[in-house]
Parts: sequence; C-alpha cells; structure tokens
Amino acid sequence: MQQLLDQIVKECAPLSEAGHVADYIPELAKANPKSFGAAVTDKDGKQWASGDADETFCLESIAKVVSLALALQLRGFDDVFDRVGRSAIADPFNSIMRLEMDSPHRPHNPMINSGAIVVVSLLPQEGVEAKIGAVLELCAVLSGQKIAEVVERVYLSEKFTSDRNRALAYFLRSVGSLEGDVEDTLDVYFRMCSIGTTAKQLSVLGATLACNGRNPLTGQDVISPTVARTVRALMMTCGMYDGSGEFAVDVGIPAKSGVGGGIVGTVPGRAGLAVYGPSLDERGNSVAGVAAMKRLSLEGGFRVI
Ligand code: DON
Repeated sequence: MQQLLDQIVKECAPLSEAGHVADYIPELAKANPKSFGAAVTDKDGKQWASGDADETFCLESIAKVVSLALALQLRGFDDVFDRVGRSAIADPFNSIMRLEMDSPHRPHNPMINSGAIVVVSLLPQEGVEAKIGAVLELCAVLSGQKIAEVVERVYLSEKFTSDRNRALAYFLRSVGSLEGDVEDTLDVYFRMCSIGTTAKQLSVLGATLACNGRNPLTGQDVISPTVARTVRALMMTCGMYDGSGEFAVDVGIPAKSGVGGGIVGTVPGRAGLAVYGPSLDERGNSVAGVAAMKRLSLEGGFRVI
C-alpha cells in the first residue's frame, strides 16, 4: 500500500497545474497550488500516508458530512429529511436558481450549500458557541483527534466574502424553509467550513464512516450505523456536486470534496481514503485529488460500485 500511495502521489501531483486554487475567499487563495498528499486508514486502524498528508487545510464543504451526521443523530431522520431533500442535482454547490424554480423551495440535498445551511439551523444546541462546539467535538472524535479547531483567519475571510451564502439563507427564510436566527446559522456554517484538518486526519474520518460509525483508531462508537450508512449514501450521490455522477462512474467510492482542496472517500467495511491538493477544477474539486482517488480506487481495489 505504501508503495502504491507514493507512486500515485508522485504521478498525480503535477496534474495540479491544470487547476486553480479557490480565490473567491481571499484566505484560500493563499494555499500553495503545488501541495499534494494522500492518506489511507483501514478498518484495523493501520495508516499509510504520502506527500503533504500532514499539511493543515480547511474542511470547507467536507464539514457538511459532519453537520449532517450530527443533525441525523440528534434530530432524527424525519426532522432532517422533511426540510432537506435527498436528490442529486447537476448544479454548482452554491447555485440559487433551482431553489426558486422548484416547489417546495427546499434544498435538494444536504451536501450543497443551501442544504447544509438548513441542516445547521436544525442542530438542537442553543446559540452559535454551543452549535459549533458540538460540530467540533464530533469532527474530533470522527477523525480520532483530541480536539478540532476553527482556523480563525479563514473563518473571518469566509464571513466577509459571503454574499452568495447570505443570499441563499435569506431566500430560504423568505420562503419559510429556514427557521431561527439567520446570521447565527450562517456564522456556524462559516466556522465549520473553516475547521482545520489534514489528509491523515480526514482518512480516519472516512474510515469511521466506513466502519459504520466506529472509529478504528480509538474503538469508539461515534455515530450509529444507520447514520453512517445514510451519510455514505448521500456522499455517493451528491458529495462531488455536479461532478458526482462522473465520480461515481470513474471512481466508484462515496466521497466528499471541499474547496480547501480535500477529498475524503469511504469504502464500507474497509477503509477511509483522503487526498489534499488545493488546485481545483471548475466544479470546485481538487484536480490532482480526483485523479489520485481514481487510481487508488482502481489500483488499490477500493471501488465499491
Ligand atoms: O460555502 C462556501 O462557499 C465554502 N465555504 C464551502 C464551499 C465548498 O467547499 C464547495 N466545495 N467544493
């Protein structure tokens, strides 16, 4: 496995040249487009890592996996799926168009921005600090860390360049699809996107989902098997946005990407895979990361469909 991972990282890293780092959030534009790393954690807690697998970056949209797991665990399936759909759509992650066109005006799934904003609003804790505290705690136990932390400079950058997310949230409120304090909900959303992680840590998160909610490093039962299975299903169908269909055909692994450059994959009963490369394609997915996941899936025998 180590040899395969080293080879894939070495050969995929140059593909980063075909993409661009996210620049709609100024702090993300500071990432080194050449950084590239990958990690695998298997069901027994064995780990392999290569390249920049210990470099810190932000979860960004990968945080949607954590908030969904938390909301399903604490609010139950009916409460969550009454307000957020489970359908894949072929629109960009921050698109407003379909929200207005389709009735009910309900986000199509929890992996796009509108869906994640509604999911955050459903977290039962009172206030911003308690909600983000719960997300951080779940993130830490899912990835086998003592603590998870918000990267303050990225959070502030997200917050001050958030016109699109504000537009989504206020539209949702205007049609009765978002309850509670909109600014507080957005604040939790921006903070969770800004949680720091590494490819190594993300591979543990993927492995915990793969092991039906039991963290293979710590042995802790973190979320229920039903929640883990549901999150995996939504990663498979919606985790790579408008690239989800292509990713399912080419890679065949439930996965979630973020504009920070991370992709986490979860191979049921077997392993968690993670890659980090901040140079992105036009859909907001890591260019070298998608290529590496494809090779890991084929050459590592991780494909699940
Ligand atoms: O809401 C945003 O724009 C970002 N904070 C997260 C978006 C994201 O990661 C999309 N992923 N590929």
